[in-house]
Amino acid sequence: MRTTINAPIGVFDSGTGGLTVARGIAKHLPQEQIVYFGDTIHLPYGDKSEETILNYCYKISDWLLDKGCKIIVIACNTASAVSYEHLKKYLEGKALVISVIEPMVEAVVKSACKHIGLIATPRTITSNIYSNKLQLKNPVLKVSPKVTRSLASIIEEGMFAHQPVMRAIIAYYLNDPVLRNIDSLILGCTHYPIIREAIQAHLGEHITVFDSTDIVAHYVKKLLIAKNLLCNTPSNKPHEFYISDYTTGFARTAEMFFGDAITVQHCPLWES
Ligand code: DGL
Repeated sequence: MRTTINAPIGVFDSGTGGLTVARGIAKHLPQEQIVYFGDTIHLPYGDKSEETILNYCYKISDWLLDKGCKIIVIACNTASAVSYEHLKKYLEGKALVISVIEPMVEAVVKSACKHIGLIATPRTITSNIYSNKLQLKNPVLKVSPKVTRSLASIIEEGMFAHQPVMRAIIAYYLNDPVLRNIDSLILGCTHYPIIREAIQAHLGEHITVFDSTDIVAHYVKKLLIAKNLLCNTPSNKPHEFYISDYTTGFARTAEMFFGDAITVQHCPLWES
């Protein structure tokens, strides 16, 4: 692997959602530098074809490699479902790569939960990736999936700030009978942690909510330690945030997702 301990951690998503993953990494691995790419020009990924999403993922990975990243975190469930196995081969010997799905599966399997609800984009749900991976580890687990088609776009638009609207949308999706009798819910989209509290309030405290923010950060830390790539002195380089399309209000939304003031730069990746 042609990389060093001090190289940055690359994180990408279709938009701001992956910033919830970046936020977890910044919290649990404060000595690391993060380079973030949000492909806002192509958001949402969730209803695009596999081929299209895969092409985006290759191009973004090349760009993160050019930035010298030692590990690439696919901070998007949709992109993880489609591209993880391909990127593992593509990036072999160049950088480590993780998806957000394996860490989540590991956390669910370790818990006592047996009937797991899953909310995610159409592409993630139709891939069956969560049910396949969970049932491979424990065939007793029951997974009840529910497509929440517009939720990522609604959150991206900043609607999460309007609590009555958000509560109504959450009720619309989560009152689906398919989610009756679940003991837990996977937030299968990295945009959803931003409305975790509202989701938990709707479900009640007796339902365990799995959100990728901390789970993925712990997984990254374990992997970097195992590969002797964990930075042990604080990086003096600031985190870098790039998006492919500068949308109105993005910086404000991005700060809420990341939980800290950030400078967002436009990266015209698709114009070259
Ligand atoms: N954040 C992405 C995910 O985790 C979903 C948003 C989209 O559809 O682009 O699946």
